[in-house]
Amino acid sequence: MSVRMAPPLPLIILIMVHRVSSAGWDVSYSPSHICALKNSSVIMNCTYTYPTGHKIMKVFWSKNPVKGKEPPDMSEDPEYSQRLQYLGDKQQNCTIRLSHVTQKDSHKYYFRFNTNKCSKKWTGYPGVTLTVTDLQVEAPERVTEGHNVRLTCKSSCTLTDRATFIWYRNSQPLTERRDRNNQLLLQSVRREDAGRYSCALHGHSYISPAARLSVTYAPRNVSVSISPSGEIVEGDSVTLICSSDSNPPALNFSWFKENQSSAVGAGQSFSALQSGRFYCEAHNQHGSQRSDAVTVIVKDPPRSVAVSITGSGEIVEGDSVTLICSSDSNPPALNFSWFKENQSSAVGSGQSFSALQSGRFYCEAHNQHGSQRSDAVTVTVKGGAMFYSFVSVVGRLVILYISIGVICGAAVIITMLIW
Ligand SMILES: *[C@@H]1O[C@H](CO)[C@@H](O)[C@H](O)[C@H]1NC(C)=O
Ligand SMILES: *[C@@H]1O[C@H](CO)[C@@H](O)[C@H](O)[C@H]1NC(C)=O
Ligand SMILES: *[C@@H]1O[C@H](CO)[C@@H](O)[C@H](O)[C@H]1NC(C)=O
Ligand SMILES: *[C@@H]1O[C@H](CO)[C@@H](O)[C@H](O)[C@H]1NC(C)=O
Ligand SMILES: *[C@@H]1O[C@H](CO)[C@@H](O)[C@H](O)[C@H]1NC(C)=O
Ligand SMILES: *[C@@H]1O[C@H](CO)[C@@H](O)[C@H](O)[C@H]1NC(C)=O
Ligand SMILES: *[C@@H]1O[C@H](CO)[C@@H](O)[C@H](O)[C@H]1NC(C)=O
Ligand SMILES: *[C@@H]1O[C@H](CO)[C@@H](O)[C@H](O)[C@H]1NC(C)=O
Repeated sequence: MSVRMAPPLPLIILIMVHRVSSAGWDVSYSPSHICALKNSSVIMNCTYTYPTGHKIMKVFWSKNPVKGKEPPDMSEDPEYSQRLQYLGDKQQNCTIRLSHVTQKDSHKYYFRFNTNKCSKKWTGYPGVTLTVTDLQVEAPERVTEGHNVRLTCKSSCTLTDRATFIWYRNSQPLTERRDRNNQLLLQSVRREDAGRYSCALHGHSYISPAARLSVTYAPRNVSVSISPSGEIVEGDSVTLICSSDSNPPALNFSWFKENQSSAVGAGQSFSALQSGRFYCEAHNQHGSQRSDAVTVIVKDPPRSVAVSITGSGEIVEGDSVTLICSSDSNPPALNFSWFKENQSSAVGSGQSFSALQSGRFYCEAHNQHGSQRSDAVTVTVKGGAMFYSFVSVVGRLVILYISIGVICGAAVIITMLIW
């Protein structure tokens, strides 16, 4: 009986041993994937079990276990030793904390323990996966005033749902307008919304690099400045400069004279040659705006002063030639003086002048802003008339003398005949 009962017993023991050995050795990580923010402290939550009767001799974490070799202990690695803290114990808790994580720490980590019995060693595969992320603001470069824009704080892995995002504009925290957890919605954007945006996680020191958001808008605050300054300007012309506040900067400017429909000029500056009221209009792709008008009074002395001659400028003595002085000025010149070259005092006044003598004459046109003289014109009086009249007088005297002679001769002959 006893001989026949013997065989099943070792089998049962074998099964029991197998059960014990598979159930007794275990390392579990909770969670097994961790997404951590740059420069934060990471808790790698870990528990382990081993069969009763074993005593734990050594516990450590390793990054690169190699089959068949004793893996390196991270706490002896200078890259980790300062930042690694074992929070567990030598019974069942193998939790560690890794501080100031960098993207280089993205890796798989394993817990390993050695026991006293037969130097049994155990590595907890498949390990805990750590991913370290930074934050990046995703935003368009520019948005048009009045439109909506959504900014996203991007991470390369999914941070916990409980993470609260904080937004900054030009390093100032923004309190409102948070949309979905990692998004910031700016509605009906205003110019003041332009700036450098960055994001962070509540409770963490890391702040993302800033992204610049530019707000584009049509020209506004368009104004004209006058150079030289002042609305009333002396000189030949006055330069008007159009300035505007616009984004992108206005590059297209038109100039108008008040109550004239068509433009009188283009470009950021304009030379007003005449008096009047002028304004500019600045354009960019978002629209245009006009400035207030400025009054320009050009105090313009006469210019383009010239003398014109009726006829050829050659006359015979006794006649005269009329010289007319013309000028282009604002206000018009009403006062003209006439001079003979190399004579200091005027020889005449008024817009026209009758030259009776040969010479070089010029005029000077005046208005209240100054005067200008013309080039000189040459008037030549021919002496020929006197010669011809002298000849004709002499001729007539000869004819008279001859006539008298003829008449006298005839009278003598008649007298002699009578006698
Ligand atoms: C660690 O794991 C335990 C058990 O799974 C869990 O109750 C605890 O919340 C975890 N702690 C962290 C910080 O994940
Ligand atoms: C392990 O120890 C850490 C630190 O003391 C503790 O936060 C964690 O809850 C412990 N884990 C378990 C499963 O007890
Ligand atoms: C990293 O965190 C520490 C505090 O935990 C902080 O003093 C330091 O400024 C942070 N470094 C960066 C680059 O954010
Ligand atoms: C227009 O520009 C002037 C000068 O730069 C500034 O003082 C003024 O506040 C601006 N006005 C508006 C409405 O932006
Ligand atoms: C400037 O703006 C006016 C009005 O929008 C347009 O007619 C003109 O073609 C523009 N000129 C240039 C050079 O863009
Ligand atoms: C332009 O017209 C307005 C009315 O249409 C008038 O009041 C103003 O005096 C005019 N300006 C000039 C410079 O003619
Ligand atoms: C014309 O201008 C001259 C030179 O300025 C001045 O001497 C003269 O009085 C002016 N005559 C009249 C009528 O304005
Ligand atoms: C006027 O004087 C200039 C030199 O002062 C001389 O060259 C010119 O010939 C003179 N003209 C007349 C018409 O005398």
